[in-house]
Amino acid sequence: MSIVLFFYGQIGHRKKSARMALTSLEKKNHYAILTINRPDALNALNEDILNEIHEHVEGLAGDAAIRGLIITGTGEKAFCAGADIGQMASFNPEQAEAFARKGHKTMNAIAGSDLVSIAAINGFALGGGLELALSCDIRIASDNAKMGLPETGLGIIPGFGGTQRLSRLVGPALALEIILTGTQVKSDRALQIGLVNQVVVQSELLNTAEKMMGIITGKKGPEAQKIARWLVHSGLEQPLSAALEREINEFSQIFSREEPRVGLTAFKEKKEPDFSGG
Ligand code: COA
Repeated sequence: MSIVLFFYGQIGHRKKSARMALTSLEKKNHYAILTINRPDALNALNEDILNEIHEHVEGLAGDAAIRGLIITGTGEKAFCAGADIGQMASFNPEQAEAFARKGHKTMNAIAGSDLVSIAAINGFALGGGLELALSCDIRIASDNAKMGLPETGLGIIPGFGGTQRLSRLVGPALALEIILTGTQVKSDRALQIGLVNQVVVQSELLNTAEKMMGIITGKKGPEAQKIARWLVHSGLEQPLSAALEREINEFSQIFSREEPRVGLTAFKEKKEPDFSGG
């Protein structure tokens, strides 16, 4: 049985309902599905939503049973159409800095947690919406999805990590093309340039993400996965030689743990490994 939690943000930023759930969290076996629920604004990120996502991620990090997070948006039109343009319109530099810091804090919480994350991109992922997807480990897009960083068209720049995470994912030339043209990249091109891992028809999007998450959180060694994920992420910030040395170190250290005994022995005995510790 799954458990659904709703967050109710502070009253003030919503126009159509004073107490509308802005996000929901559904806990499954070993992962959770976080859904942004603000369809009247194409799931745009205001401060309340950023806070709620952050709180969900923090809460999940303290739940030993949960190892993965799928993030998606309500409806068939938008994953998330970006940071809330209405909220930003009146910003002075101090307010803009506070907003950017809040956005970074939320994106860093996702990327820096031990949760394996998949963005299930169900439509527009623009600006902060693409930055949210970029903070996830894996992106699966529906065939109607369009992704981009259109900020320069508004006279601003991506401020939730887009300039850095996009260029690390697709390389600086493609990142600059996307940022400077503000183009909406369709899902087939996104797949071609490595912006997304997979494209599926919309009706299959969540199923596909859940299936992949089920494999990830299924019969693999959780400690081994955690270390491998950390090596990939942290290695991007290091010179290659240092990152390779760290891989040797972690490879050797893992043999002081139980998981290699379970996994290697099960293979030799032609059995399924049981990493549950039971
Ligand atoms: N912030 C706040 N509200 C937003 C929003 C955002 N980023 N993106 C869309 N909305 C709102 C619209 O204002 C509109 O509200 P309204 O019905 O009260 O007028 C509603 O969502 C639907 O959007 P609309 O523009 O009418 O839909 P569309 O199908 O014509 O266009 C988009 C869809 C995504 C192309 C268009 O909404 C858009 O360009 N959004 C902004 C994307 C962006 O620049 N993001 C980066 C922000 S830094």
